Amino acid sequence: MIVAREHISAMAPYALAELQPPSGKRLVSLAQNESALPPSPAALMAAAEALVDSTLYPDPDWSDLRRAIADVHGLDPAQILCGAGSMELILCLTQCYAGPGDEILSSQYAYAFFRTAAAVAQASYVTVPEQDFAVSVDRLLDAVTRNTRVVFVANPGNPTGTRIANAEVARLRHGLREDILLVVDEAYGEFSEDADEPVFDLVQQGNTVVLRTFSKAYGLAGLRTGWGVFPRGIAAEVRKLLNPNNVSVVGQAACTAAMTDQAYMRETCRITAERRNRFADNVRQLGLDVPQSSTNFVLINFASPASAMTASETLKAEGIFMRGMAGYDLPASLRATIGAEDDMQLALQILSGVCVREEI
Ligand SMILES: Cc1ncc(COP(=O)(O)O)c(C=O)c1O
Repeated sequence: MIVAREHISAMAPYALAELQPPSGKRLVSLAQNESALPPSPAALMAAAEALVDSTLYPDPDWSDLRRAIADVHGLDPAQILCGAGSMELILCLTQCYAGPGDEILSSQYAYAFFRTAAAVAQASYVTVPEQDFAVSVDRLLDAVTRNTRVVFVANPGNPTGTRIANAEVARLRHGLREDILLVVDEAYGEFSEDADEPVFDLVQQGNTVVLRTFSKAYGLAGLRTGWGVFPRGIAAEVRKLLNPNNVSVVGQAACTAAMTDQAYMRETCRITAERRNRFADNVRQLGLDVPQSSTNFVLINFASPASAMTASETLKAEGIFMRGMAGYDLPASLRATIGAEDDMQLALQILSGVCVREEI
C-alpha cells in the first residue's frame, strides 16, 4: 500500500465554500471574497491579446508585471516576487523558514491557510486571542518563545475584516527578535490603502515580507496571481521553492494592465466600500453585530450558532451562499462577501425576515 507521509495524512483537506444552489435557483456566491465588480477592461483586453502567446511558457521573471507593480508602489522590482496567488507565496515562505520543532505565531481568527502552511512545514501553529475581533500586537509579542520563527498577520484580517494601524504593525516588528520573520498579508490592503503610510518600508530591515494579491481589489481571483515585497536574501531563497513558471502568460498580461489602471481599481474599492458600509449598517439595524470592516466582506455575528445556521439555510434556499465560520471557531457567525447591489438587497431582505420570524 502507498502511504502518504504521516503529517500529510493527518491534515484535513483545505475547506472551500460549498456552492450548490437548489435546483431552479440562480447561484449568488457571497462566500469567497471575490470582487463585486469585473476586472478593468484594460486587463480583459490584455488577457485576450496574450492568449495567442500561450504556446510559450510564461516569463519566469514576471518582468513587465514586476515593473508595473514597482512603478505604482515606488518599489525595487528586484524585491518583488509573484506567485500563483499569494497562497503559493505563503506556502513557500513557511517551508523556507519553519520546520519541525519551530513555532509559527498568528492571531486567533487569522486566515486559515496560515495553519495549513504550518502543517505542511511540520511546524507548530500557535495563535493568540484577538481583542474585539482585531489583532492584538501586545498578545502576539507576549506569546513569542525561543522557538518562534515566523509571525503571520493578515491586515486587514479575514474573516474579521478588521484592520490595525500600520503604526501597530511597525510596533510589532520592532518588538520581535530580529531573527523572526514577520509576514504581513495585505490581501485586502487596497481597500484601505489611503488610511496611513504603507508598510512596505519595513521590508528594508531585512526580516519582513508584505504580501498583496490581484484576487480581491483587482477582481482577478481566477487568474491566480499574488505578489509580495521581500528582502533580497529572502526573495532569493523563496524563489527556489516557487514553481518557476507559476504565473501564466495570460495572468501576467492581465495583471500588468490591471496594475497600470489604478483609477479603475480605486473606483472598485470606493463602490465596494460604499455598498459594504450600507449593508453593514442595515444588518446592524436588525440587531446583529458586525465588526467594522476594511475589506470587501463583513462578518455577521448572530446571537447563537443555531441562529447563524437558520440564517444560512434560509439564504441557501434562495440560492444565496454566505460562508459559515465554524471552521474559524465562530459557529455563531457568517461571513458575507459584498456582491452586486441587488444581491445584497435580497440578502438583507432574507436576513430581516429570519430575524423577525426567529426573534433573533
Ligand atoms: C487574508 C488572505 N490572504 C491570502 C489570500 C489568498 O489570496 P490569493 O487568491 O492571492 O491566493 C486570501 C484569500 O481569500 C486571504 O483572505
